[in-house]
Amino acid sequence: MMKMTEPITFRRGLTLKNRIVMAPMTVKMSFYDGIVTDDEIAYYQMRAGAIGAIITGAANVQPNGKGWEGELGVDDDKQIPRLAKLASAIQTNGTKAILQIFHAGRMTDSSVLRGKTPVSASAVPTHKEWGEVPREMSHEEILAVIDNYAKATRRAIQAGFDGVELHGANLYLIQQFFSPHSNIREDMWGGSLEKRYTFIDQVVSAVTKVVDDSEVENFIVGFRFSPEEFTEPGIRFTDALYLVDQLADTSLDYLHVSLRDYQKKPELPAYQEKTIVEYLAEKIAGRIPLIGVGEVTTQEDAEKLLTTADIAALGKILLSEPNWYNKVIHQQEDLIRHKISSYDREELHISNGAWGFLIDRMADRID
Ligand SMILES: Cc1cc2nc3c(=O)[nH]c(=O)nc-3n(C[C@H](O)[C@H](O)[C@H](O)COP(=O)(O)O)c2cc1C
Repeated sequence: MMKMTEPITFRRGLTLKNRIVMAPMTVKMSFYDGIVTDDEIAYYQMRAGAIGAIITGAANVQPNGKGWEGELGVDDDKQIPRLAKLASAIQTNGTKAILQIFHAGRMTDSSVLRGKTPVSASAVPTHKEWGEVPREMSHEEILAVIDNYAKATRRAIQAGFDGVELHGANLYLIQQFFSPHSNIREDMWGGSLEKRYTFIDQVVSAVTKVVDDSEVENFIVGFRFSPEEFTEPGIRFTDALYLVDQLADTSLDYLHVSLRDYQKKPELPAYQEKTIVEYLAEKIAGRIPLIGVGEVTTQEDAEKLLTTADIAALGKILLSEPNWYNKVIHQQEDLIRHKISSYDREELHISNGAWGFLIDRMADRID
């Protein structure tokens, strides 16, 4: 019996029919105002049906949280009707639809924000060469962002999604509050590790409250995080262990570690005996399901990851092979497409905008 084919039920009652989910991947297909396009619906629908859930690419919760052109938006009620079409397209044949919600913080620029300066926890630019100096948010602005995460969740419920995933990974705003690199505040939102956790705690509380106060049933809330940063100062693996220890005792439905390689070990010399996923699972000790990710491309990878993680997320391989799950369970792994050529692009519903982006991000997967 393969572990990947076993269903899993979350705390709030939602059941995934198996343990393979599509990792959140931005493909830059939305309209300029974040509204879902037909191309986007065709792209997601093609990958739905067999796998347990699809987590969408990041959707911004307020206008100055937009990270790039073509990004999904969940910052305005006008987006709800097309989000509803996206949710129901994903739900074809029982795949659950999870909307990833986020704010880019300092990981954007004033051209994307139509002349406005990016905002963050503190006025410290990202280490990326293109980083602009962001404006430090006021206390009131921080409360407004938290409220906008709650409003975005209400829109996801109205649109018929099965859940939201809080994007606390990959250097975006939630992570910026937790990181000593980007958060040098001295008020209630910064200072010690515990105070840098305050923003996460309040976003999680606000979002789970919206869900629990609503009429909706079985709607789940997940949290994605990055376990390490490579800047000095930055988030270290011990900080990630603190983070999961806190989050495992909240009413979240799952945690999702963001990794490039599911077999990666922590950077810290004192943590070299196990993989990051193994250390995290040990700390969580069964309190909450954990999703692992990163170069899971074969059945063997998925089963190996699922010896410690509860769910395996697959990203790039589902771009080139939308039928990955069916090919695996029917012993047709030799037919899995590992590379995309420009010839397959249209058939795979990867639009022009997405293709340019993918060339930058996936040179090794393109023929
Ligand atoms: C084109 C592309 C877009 C991505 N966009 C997002 C995103 O919107 N949100 C997110 O949390 N991670 C994003 N990621 C990271 C993936 O979710 C995943 O963690 C990573 O690709 C490793 O998994 P894989 O080796 O199976 O692709 C993106 C990755 C790719 C390749």
